[in-house]
Amino acid sequence: VDPTIDLFAAIQQLKKEKNAIILAHYYQEPDIQDIADFIGDSLGLAQKAQSTDADMIVFAGVHFMAETAKILNPHKKVLLPDLNAGCSLSDSAPPAMFKAFKDKHPDHLVITYINCSAGMKALSDIICTSSNAQQIVESLPKDQKIIFAPDKNLGAWINKQTGRNMVLWNGACMVHEMFSYEKITKLKVRHPQAKVLAHPECEAPVLALADYIGSTTGILKYAEKSADQTFIVVTESGILHQMQKTSPHKTFIPAPPNNACACNDCPYMKLNTLEKLYLCMQYELPEVTMDAGLIAAAKKPIERMLQISA
Ligand code: 13P
Ligand code: SF4
Repeated sequence: VDPTIDLFAAIQQLKKEKNAIILAHYYQEPDIQDIADFIGDSLGLAQKAQSTDADMIVFAGVHFMAETAKILNPHKKVLLPDLNAGCSLSDSAPPAMFKAFKDKHPDHLVITYINCSAGMKALSDIICTSSNAQQIVESLPKDQKIIFAPDKNLGAWINKQTGRNMVLWNGACMVHEMFSYEKITKLKVRHPQAKVLAHPECEAPVLALADYIGSTTGILKYAEKSADQTFIVVTESGILHQMQKTSPHKTFIPAPPNNACACNDCPYMKLNTLEKLYLCMQYELPEVTMDAGLIAAAKKPIERMLQISA
């Protein structure tokens, strides 16, 4: 891309010309968050994708999120700046393997975290996100047998919150599994007044250190409303941009990962750049396309989630 182009102005222009909406997740780089029409957690983004009247949805997030937007809008053009923006959690549940697992538990209902492929969604009864997982589980009778996939950490946390005994698929997010119980404990000793805010994709020992556990939107709102001034943030670092914007006088400390070579950036989320966003809007590529049968099968459990969370 010509380095003299004002990408912010050019993207604004393309938005108008093409009647496009840019939806961004909180883990996107700050420039992308600043140009987006809507920034949200997975539930907020799905709800926004469902309600938009734009002709084109530009999804600054990862593939499963853009796929969800396409499932909800089969007749709209859905673009993803980099098609390689996948998700380690989604990759941990290949549909064929999950189908064999599901067949071994024929009397179980399948609740699947939205961080999964459309193929997985098509095998599910209800989708959930981190902000509505507890509500969705509790909407089912106490004796209902449930398989929860693919995130074992979120599943274990919901089991604990609800007293259920859901069967868990053994998947996890590479970013949230990297946070260290020991290093966060050391940080707490140095900042005894700091509150620990964690995403439920973290492992149980890390969650045990948290003062608040919730989705990215939940974490952001908690910090905004809290009377506390200092927070240790145990999720992907992209959220810090909005936290600092909404609470400029508060202090946010990113939780350290467990080894010096690691970082708390999601390598998939960070594949999207402002340049790629501009190019994808200009050339209307890469586009997320899907088979109509798969769209229909994956749509049912998403709609069930949206009805329960309405
Ligand atoms: P939420 O924004 O829904 O909390 O999801 C976090 C995440 O890991 C998305 O990939
Ligand atoms: Fe997937 Fe984890 Fe990245 Fe979210 S942060 S997109 S769950 S790998």
